[in-house]
Amino acid sequence: MKNYKRTLVTCALPYANGPVHIGHLAGVYVPADIYVRYLRMRGEEVLYVCGSDEHGVPITIKARQLGCSPQDIVDKYHKIIDESFKSLGINFDVYGRTSSQIHKETSSEFFRRLYDSGKFITKESEQYYDPEAKTFLADRYIVGTCPKCGAEGAYGDQCEKCGSTLSPEELINPKSKLSGAAPIKKKTTHWYLPLEQYESWLREWILEGHKEWRPNVYGQVKSWLDGGLQPRAVTRDLDWGVPVPVEGAEGKVLYVWFDAPIGYISNTRQILPDTWEKWWKSPDTKLVHFIGKDNIVFHCIVFPAMLKAYGDGYILPENVPANEFLNLEGDKISTSRGWAVWAHEYVKDFPGKEDALRYVLTANAPETKDNDFSWKDFQTRNNSELVAVFGNFVNRAVVLTHKYFGGKVPACGELQDVDREVLEAVPGIKASVEIYLDNYKFRETLKEAMNLARLGNKYISDTEPWKVAKTDLARTATILNISLQLCADLAIAFEPFTPFAAARLRKMIDSPLDWNLLGCSDILKEGHQLQEAELLVTKIEDEEIDRQLARLDAIRAEKEAAAKAEAANQVAPQKDECTFEEFEKMDIRTATVLAAERVPKTDKLLKLTIDTGIDQRTIVSGIAEYYSPEDMLGKQICILANLKPRMIRGIESKGMILMAKQGDGKMRFITPQEVVANGAEVG
Ligand code: MF3
Ligand code: ZN
Repeated sequence: MKNYKRTLVTCALPYANGPVHIGHLAGVYVPADIYVRYLRMRGEEVLYVCGSDEHGVPITIKARQLGCSPQDIVDKYHKIIDESFKSLGINFDVYGRTSSQIHKETSSEFFRRLYDSGKFITKESEQYYDPEAKTFLADRYIVGTCPKCGAEGAYGDQCEKCGSTLSPEELINPKSKLSGAAPIKKKTTHWYLPLEQYESWLREWILEGHKEWRPNVYGQVKSWLDGGLQPRAVTRDLDWGVPVPVEGAEGKVLYVWFDAPIGYISNTRQILPDTWEKWWKSPDTKLVHFIGKDNIVFHCIVFPAMLKAYGDGYILPENVPANEFLNLEGDKISTSRGWAVWAHEYVKDFPGKEDALRYVLTANAPETKDNDFSWKDFQTRNNSELVAVFGNFVNRAVVLTHKYFGGKVPACGELQDVDREVLEAVPGIKASVEIYLDNYKFRETLKEAMNLARLGNKYISDTEPWKVAKTDLARTATILNISLQLCADLAIAFEPFTPFAAARLRKMIDSPLDWNLLGCSDILKEGHQLQEAELLVTKIEDEEIDRQLARLDAIRAEKEAAAKAEAANQVAPQKDECTFEEFEKMDIRTATVLAAERVPKTDKLLKLTIDTGIDQRTIVSGIAEYYSPEDMLGKQICILANLKPRMIRGIESKGMILMAKQGDGKMRFITPQEVVANGAEVG
């Protein structure tokens, strides 16, 4: 890789139509933050850019649902998201917004230049238009019957029932979500970026030049390129967004995926109005985009093609480390179902435990495949790794130094083999961390940092300075000196992962934050005064986890109830034809229940004694889930009288009770509309 002078790190701009959740954090923001903190510790020049993505149709739909303006929606969520990042220690140099004036100017100018230099083509097409609301309908504003599965309420771009990707034209009986009217087709003209013109250039730049990119990223790019690129519309008929800055484009805005990535540039301009170009147009700047896998095509194909078309020295990303998705307790995270752990709620529920979330999301990061977050695993990792290894080691080293040496770093005497082993291991760990971080392997890096803590913990357990102190205080001094150097190493190595604990540790032992010092055997000099010991990380109790699990259980129960309600309406298909003679063979009659009791040791069976008008007999019936013996007593029912007798649990059952059975299994017995004589034939 070439030598760069500075690094520009961008994080996907989150849509300001909802709060961010652990999936976003694990996929984009936590890894980016680790990377930035690492570069900063190395003294490198870094710019860390993010902001809210405030355009797009989902925001307008949400506003309509809530009866407020799109601006109200984005104002609300911009604030929530911005604050939740800060509270987790994710401190961007700028967190801007795409509804800002500077963004409007920057993206308009960007479009205008491409327009003026003939980089777009225009195409006329027919699109759905709501004749009552007098507006074109974006895909999500059209609903109808799914052509694939027949479900009602499928959207113009997707059926949520069967998951098929659709186009609005495919919907059967399309209706406008705005007015309910049947939409009509109307001609409209849009601007397109002819991506196919950039195909060979993209092939060369990525497929030839960036074979080191993550396999998931490289693979997606390759399959897009192999599939052949098409012109992509960069404008929409919509009234929320950046107006298309050319004449004759009334009622049109820039497509959200055209304006949003330009947001990275606008946000840079916002804080560095005079020097922003050095970050975007200098070959000495290394640009890295942190994103989730659903953003790959936009950051590896569309935005680079836009920058290439613009020219003027815009740089391209050196890497695009995209993560896969994180699931929650085995299920896909879903904002609409509430199946998520929200960042702003986490910090309220677990005050002072921001590090725990960062740590676990990194340890389980979905770097190469989708991964799962579970609350139990979260608790275990916090308690048995962060607390029991990292926290415990530091605590022992500092407490013992206070006990034996008044809180001053004691002298390091003659070294023994165990001392040399740990001291020599640290530079190796440092080197591994550097390689992993340069390759965006954050899970592996965290393992290395944790190995350093394990090393310390094992060292102090093996050398037992509290025992040695009884006979050899000089040896105790050496052990604690080395332990404290390891603490100072940990205060550096854990900074990217658990910045709050790392900062507390540096305060406690008054140690520096400088990557280059990691592994030096005398970061803390003899006589250096420590502060009082305080707990670096604290345990997470069962009650805290149970509360979270109870919330998720409630959501699951709700979903199951909804599924059941739907199943209840599912109707079984009609059976094969039968003849009248076949039907006539069945002897169906009315009867009355004389006695009823549960069949012992079963959940489902009732033993009924019935009067059939012909005789009194016993029928064993699997209805105990739906009726108690008391419910059945004295009821008039219908039975199939001539069913061949069967032994059920040692009882001879003669006949069968006729039941109506719903799709969800619920059963009700059939009864004549008025009481009739027992033994009346039914037919
Ligand atoms: N808002 C988009 C998402 O959440 C990401 C936009 S990234 C940008 O998927 F580059 F377009 F800004
Ligand atoms: Zn469908």
